[in-house]
Amino acid sequence: MRRVSIVVLLGAAEFVLVQVQDPEDLLVDYDCVRPRKNSLLDWSGWLQKLQQPRGEGWMAVSREPLSLLNNEKNRQQAIEECPLGLLMGDVLQMLACFDKRHPCAGTFESLVREGMAFFGLRVLMGTRWPIYETLHSDVWRRLAREDADLACEDPEKRILNWGRFKRVFDLEDWYQSAVDIAYGPELEVSWREAALECPLGFATANLIKAMLCSHTESVCFRAHETMLSAVLQDVPLQRVAGSGWPLLHLLGHVSRVVRRHRFQLDFTPGELLLRPNAGRVQREAAASSSMQDLQAIIPKLREAADQTATRFAFRGALSLRLIYATMAHGPRFSPYVSRFIGRASALGIGDELVVFCLDEEALASCRAVQGHCVRGTPSILNKFTLPLVLLQHDFDVMWLDLDVFLFQSPMTPVIRQLRENTALELLISGSFAVDCICSGIVLFRSTESVRSWLAQLLVWMYEHPYEHDQKAFSAFLRAGERVAFESELPVPPEKVPKWDFLDPETEFVSARHVDVAGWTGDPDKIIAFHLLHGDSDDADASRQFAARHGLGIGYEPLLDLFFNRTDFPELYKTPVLPHRLSPELRDALWRSRWPAPRPKSPARCNETVPMRF
Ligand SMILES: *[C@@H]1O[C@H](CO)[C@@H](O)[C@H](O)[C@H]1NC(C)=O
Ligand SMILES: *[C@@H]1O[C@H](CO)[C@@H](O)[C@H](O)[C@H]1NC(C)=O
Repeated sequence: MRRVSIVVLLGAAEFVLVQVQDPEDLLVDYDCVRPRKNSLLDWSGWLQKLQQPRGEGWMAVSREPLSLLNNEKNRQQAIEECPLGLLMGDVLQMLACFDKRHPCAGTFESLVREGMAFFGLRVLMGTRWPIYETLHSDVWRRLAREDADLACEDPEKRILNWGRFKRVFDLEDWYQSAVDIAYGPELEVSWREAALECPLGFATANLIKAMLCSHTESVCFRAHETMLSAVLQDVPLQRVAGSGWPLLHLLGHVSRVVRRHRFQLDFTPGELLLRPNAGRVQREAAASSSMQDLQAIIPKLREAADQTATRFAFRGALSLRLIYATMAHGPRFSPYVSRFIGRASALGIGDELVVFCLDEEALASCRAVQGHCVRGTPSILNKFTLPLVLLQHDFDVMWLDLDVFLFQSPMTPVIRQLRENTALELLISGSFAVDCICSGIVLFRSTESVRSWLAQLLVWMYEHPYEHDQKAFSAFLRAGERVAFESELPVPPEKVPKWDFLDPETEFVSARHVDVAGWTGDPDKIIAFHLLHGDSDDADASRQFAARHGLGIGYEPLLDLFFNRTDFPELYKTPVLPHRLSPELRDALWRSRWPAPRPKSPARCNETVPMRF
């Protein structure tokens, strides 16, 4: 990979992360979609054709790239430019060779196995190159060579009834049975023997565990990924296919289920990781469309934030250029963008609000009320990207999830808290009965340590497509949850910004959809009510996990209740408090009320699922 030293360009830049590496290398373009000059082939054009669901067939749309990749010099260039595209080509070649029973199969098979081992499950699940999908191929069935040894049907095998485990996957709903066996006592006691006795059965169990980990205790994902890779590296793919173990099918399935985002960003790496003045030389590439939209509104945001600072008369005493940001996409959220902006405007903070509009409907809804709209595409990463870019431009940013209903402007309590402790750099909402953070409302101050911390968090999230945003947030703040072992976290404890909770008892509160949330005290003092409306990302896993574990059941449609009041338009035009306007809203609010004050020492926030390798 290129490693351009830009220390010279930055001069005495404070940004440690950037001093060492090119932003393009920190946020790697696995899908090869960023513009590049003089490339061997139009990678992103090819990728696009491969994405069309089985239209002409993968082979048919790949003839030209495959013929280009057919000589050593071009292959070398492809490794530099787009290694995953090259792997994609090799998979297609391999399958074609097997299908023709041609000896070229051997050559391509080892290239594919090598490439898969190099990138691993984490990268291959996130890329849009349909590598796993292609591996689940009919060609194997036509080869139809039973591999008795790897099938582990032999009753002499002792550790586990492997045949029974394998047949679980023939069931329509195999999930629970597979999990029960994968985590069963037999495999736990003697996993080393299991790995020797039936490598592919062992690999399958590890894939199932990686799947479960990735949405519960993600710190264990890596261990299972390593085990799985170790086995797959040693067994030729045609033998895996012939063994009857469903691995080649499951790789794609697991990826689809646990993936929460792709390797896709709306802002360029330079826009995200560099300070705007330092990045001038970097900006030879055109600004992204998100950045163009933002550039157009930055002067207005600055003016509005500075006027507010003057109005609240804290300039000088407290340096704060506070703006607000949210994002929306999807039919459940996008229609409410205009009312979200309306409510903010009614509370006097509409001019300081930026909305990341991740689909057409959100954009239309934002533009209909002349909001500050920034175009983008759906990705949970954008919850980190927009605040980071705004921080790079010297704004202090309060992030508000769109399912937050503002009762009052957050300005007064924020100023109060920052005056009490001027060292604080990050404020975040929390739960009522546990000391867990909730990243639905976060105030980021534009300090060097916050910028660098958020940049590293973004890079981490980017590289871990299965990771849950709030969990990573908590882990990086050392707020109780884990996504990696301490030594693997890129930010050492002393570099964590100084943070504290926003008041979780009365001011910044959440709906009691989960039993640790809620509020107490005087409802007229509520600043923001987080409606906890569903998932923060698009992963199938979130929904499946929620459904299986009873979360998500009994959810009230609070979002619609608060944002779809055509009967009370004043909610989005005046600062009237919802519970003073409508008995229905008052009742809804009261269902989240705790009769007692918050416990003096709320339960510690920690893992709920025990780890077992
Ligand atoms: C809001 O309410 C209207 C009228 O009841 C309904 O037609 C519409 O679908 C609702 N919007 C959303 C996003 O649920
Ligand atoms: C945290 O761990 C302790 C000790 O294992 C346990 O008693 C407590 O209930 C846990 N807290 C939460 C919120 O899960």
